[in-house]
This record gives sequence, C-alpha cells and structure tokens, in this order.
Amino acid sequence: MDRPAVGIVGSGFAVPEQRVTNVDLARRVDTSDEWIRARTGIVSRHILSNGCDVSDLATLASRRAMAAGGIAPDEIDAVLVGTVSADMPFPNAANLVQQRLGLRRGPAFDVSAACAGYIYALVQGAMLIETGRAETVLVVGADALSKMLDWGDRTTCVLFGDGAGASVLKRVEPGYGLLGSHLGCDGSGADLLKVAPREADGPAYIQMAGREVFKFAVRIQSEACEAALAEAGLTAADIDWLVPHQANIRIIETAAKGIGIPMERVYINLDRYGNTSAASIPIALAEAAAEGVFKRGDRILVVGFGAGLTWGAAVVRWW
Ligand code: ACO
Repeated sequence: MDRPAVGIVGSGFAVPEQRVTNVDLARRVDTSDEWIRARTGIVSRHILSNGCDVSDLATLASRRAMAAGGIAPDEIDAVLVGTVSADMPFPNAANLVQQRLGLRRGPAFDVSAACAGYIYALVQGAMLIETGRAETVLVVGADALSKMLDWGDRTTCVLFGDGAGASVLKRVEPGYGLLGSHLGCDGSGADLLKVAPREADGPAYIQMAGREVFKFAVRIQSEACEAALAEAGLTAADIDWLVPHQANIRIIETAAKGIGIPMERVYINLDRYGNTSAASIPIALAEAAAEGVFKRGDRILVVGFGAGLTWGAAVVRWW
C-alpha cells in the first residue's frame, strides 16, 4: 500500500518579548559584538522574562500555526513537542499545550532530541497520520535553553535564544508533503554537549566541546541530507530551499557547500534569534512561509543536529 502524503498545512512561531543584543551581552561577560558576529553570525536573540515559559511560547506558536492553516483546535488528534527544556519534568510540555488549547483527546507527548527534536517529532507525527492513527497532528519545536545557561560563561551564553515554532500536519495531495527523511543518533558523543554540574552538588549548566560539535555538525548534515534525498529520489539540484538548524553561520555555510546547495537558496534567520534549539527549524519555516518565500510545490530540505549526538533531515514538498 502506498504511504499517504502528509504535509505541513499551517505554520506559526513565537519568541519572547525581551530582545538581548550582543552589545547587551558584552556588558555582562568578556565578549564583543564583533567576536559574536564573526564567529557565529548572531546579532541578537530573544530571552524569556516575566514568568513566561516554554509551554507559553509553544501554545502561542501552535495557535498561530492553526490560524494559518484554518485548523480548529478540536481537529487536533495528537500533540508532539520537541523540547529539552519543558516548564517542569511533568506534566510534559505537550500536556500543557493540549490543556491551553482546550483539547481533551489523543496522545500528547514530548520528544527529547535536543536541537534535532523538531525533525524527530515531525517524522513521528507524520507516521501517526501515515498509519491511520490520526488525521491532524500538531508538531512543535520549543526550547528555552536560557534556563540552563551559565550567564558568566562566554563560550556558551552568547549562542542561544528562546522560542517556539509549530506545524500542523494533515494529508495532502499525493506528490506533496514529506517525501523522505532520515533520523540518527551516535550516543558515543553524549559527553560533547550536555547539561551537568561542573562540580559535585553545583548547579547544572550547558557544557559544550564547541570545536568537536562544529566538526560533527558539518559532517553529519551532509550525510543526513544525502540519506533523506535518496529516500525522496531527489538530488540537491532538485531542492528550492535548504532550511538548516540555525546554530552558527560558519557551520551553515560549510554544510551547505557539502550538501551542494548555494547560499542564495539557504534560509537564514539566526542573526535575529540565535540558536533556539528544537525551535530553530520550525521558526524558520514559519517565518519564511509568512514572508512568502516558499511557493506551493517548492521542495524544501530541513536538516538539524544536536546533543546526543542526534541528527535528522527531511525533504518536504511545500503545500
Ligand atoms: N567572546 C570572545 N571570545 C570568546 C568567546 C566569546 N563569546 N567565546 C570563546 N572565546 C574565545 C575562546 O576563549 C578562545 O580563546 P583562546 O584562543 O584565548 O583560548 C577563542 O575565542 C577561540 O575559541 P574557539 O572555541 O576556538 O572558537 P570557535 O571559532 O571554535 O567558535 C563556537 C566557538 C562559536 C562555540 C563554535 O565552536 C561553534 O559554533 N561550535 C558549535 C556549537 C553549536 O552549534 N552548538 C549547538 C549544538 S545544538 C544543541 O543541541 C544545543
């Protein structure tokens, strides 16, 4: 039996009000706007304040995605939230989103795969529809890594921002929607990027071996894209837009070259949001859709990597 076509029929995103520039950060740690721009491409990011948390951003992004797709809350059969920074250990972020949207049925669960969390959730959500277990699925990527940052550590605190992006998945005409995907993990790299105390009984912060993660990111994104493109029966030349995880402009440029896609066809917004972890790809998709960058029928390649080490890529023909 042929797999039914599952597409993104509505997209939305939300970021906190508080905008923090590189210049603001240079007042707190020994860094500079020049260093951050040159080494990462980031100019500013949005950071949680005023009691707002991950589920608030995820709910707002979801409402916007449903409005964009003309989807009523009672149509949603399942909620999946890719996140590693939910408001609390339980209930999970998806439970809170479900509650705030006034839904009462279907599974609602978080998918933990760090910055690859949205692609992991996208593929799981599409499978619920492909296997007939759901008709309409809400897939969200939402994170606030600001809650886990050591704001005195200049090697990590300049990199991240908070936000959420949401996609509503539904059946679409054959030939559109998810054409191919690839997910992976190499747990041998678990120590390279983690949230852990530096000393016994100390607070847990994000710790990262930046250069190793950089090299991994460049290599794995090419491999993941190749696998997703092969499943779709396409090559890089068929792709209209590459939407990569927005971690670092130098990683994006090197990876795009390896994948074989020129920078004019790469969507970038990390200058304004920083690395928003699982939210970065769905924020980029929603922003590009709202700006009219994507046209129906465009072939979009999304790719991400993160702690774990995890990675994922998917080819989507835009609906
Ligand atoms: N401001 C000024 N100087 C700094 C800063 C800063 N914010 N951060 C580091 N430096 C200094 C270092 O101390 C070092 O100084 P030294 O030479 O005197 O020792 C110098 O700058 C160079 O440091 P490097 O680490 O070699 O800099 P690099 O060019 O590798 O850039 C960076 C660092 C931006 C972290 C890069 O390695 C990177 O982007 N790595 C990937 C990170 C990533 O994508 N992580 C997210 C993964 S997704 C997830 O799951 C959360």
